Amino acid sequence: MTPPDTDVTDSEYPVLLDEALLAEAAAELVTIRDFMRFAVTCFRENDIHLGHGTEDPFAEASALVMQTLALEWSADEEILDAKLLPSERRKVLDLLARRVNERIPLAYLLNLAYFAGMPFYVDERVLVPRSPIAELITDRFLPWLQHEPQRVLDLCTGSGCIAIAIAKEFPEAIVDATDISIDALSVASINVEHHEMEERVGLIESDVFNMLPGQRYDLIVSNPPYVDAEDMADLPAEFLREPELGLASGRDGLDITRRILAEAADYLTEEGVLVVEVGNSQWSLVQSFPEVPFAWVEFELGGKGVFVLTAAQCREFQSLFEAAL
Ligand SMILES: C[S@@+](CC[C@H](N)C(=O)[O-])C[C@H]1O[C@@H](n2cnc3c(N)ncnc32)[C@H](O)[C@@H]1O
Repeated sequence: MTPPDTDVTDSEYPVLLDEALLAEAAAELVTIRDFMRFAVTCFRENDIHLGHGTEDPFAEASALVMQTLALEWSADEEILDAKLLPSERRKVLDLLARRVNERIPLAYLLNLAYFAGMPFYVDERVLVPRSPIAELITDRFLPWLQHEPQRVLDLCTGSGCIAIAIAKEFPEAIVDATDISIDALSVASINVEHHEMEERVGLIESDVFNMLPGQRYDLIVSNPPYVDAEDMADLPAEFLREPELGLASGRDGLDITRRILAEAADYLTEEGVLVVEVGNSQWSLVQSFPEVPFAWVEFELGGKGVFVLTAAQCREFQSLFEAAL
């Protein structure tokens, strides 16, 4: 399936990397270190927006150069002084020019993003994986999840990163992964196959819960769209490359979250747990439901805006959630 076009045009930005500068760089830069330094300068001078996996321009530059040269992150530091062939220089500079001039997130240029330490294929049909839920998965959802989950649901799965990482962490679990976007599910199926999870991760086209009648899950996890209308109107260009369906969720960013809350009790097992990311819409959620004791997860690796509710709490407040629809 063809990734969607976006309305980001090069002409909206000052083009720092024109042909003259690229030719000069190709002629003068020699080592991996040189190219990384040049990339960082380009990012800084051209006001590149990071935030699709790293906030650090050095990390972005080293990923760009090392991945293009098919080198490992963990390569010995001495390799930074290795020289590039003319064809390799061209390859690195071409990618850098697209990153800077067209504001394409690096993950889309490389068709690669890491999540919970695992590699995932990504393109413009899915959001670039970056949810702090990765840390919860590798921490096995402790202290909230007290039993090994048998059945797990990843609502709004996108690339399938959460579903697949959960299946890897809990080898006994069967995971359903749903999305309303056929395009996103096509990408998820590439990742399911790549990670050999066909037996345990099922992909289902569904508008929130509507194709899951009668199902019950020990764990429901979701990173739904949650950007509010004000933030949507002010997104950096890199985010406009991502599918709007993966970001926007109504005026206060909570349209999909309210639907999840209203129905979760009907799909959780007795001792089940609900985990949902709402990012910056945390404040609106707390204002909307002041009586609900959302447990907000504290992350060591960064990130915020992820709450946990038990099945009992989902049941207790279900009528309140339904009334808010
Ligand atoms: C923020 S992205 C999350 C993707 C992935 N879980 C991750 O963490 O990278 C949200 C996803 O929700 C999907 N989505 C939007 N509205 C939906 C709906 N009504 N029902 C199911 N999925 C929906 C989008 O297609 C998108 O893939």
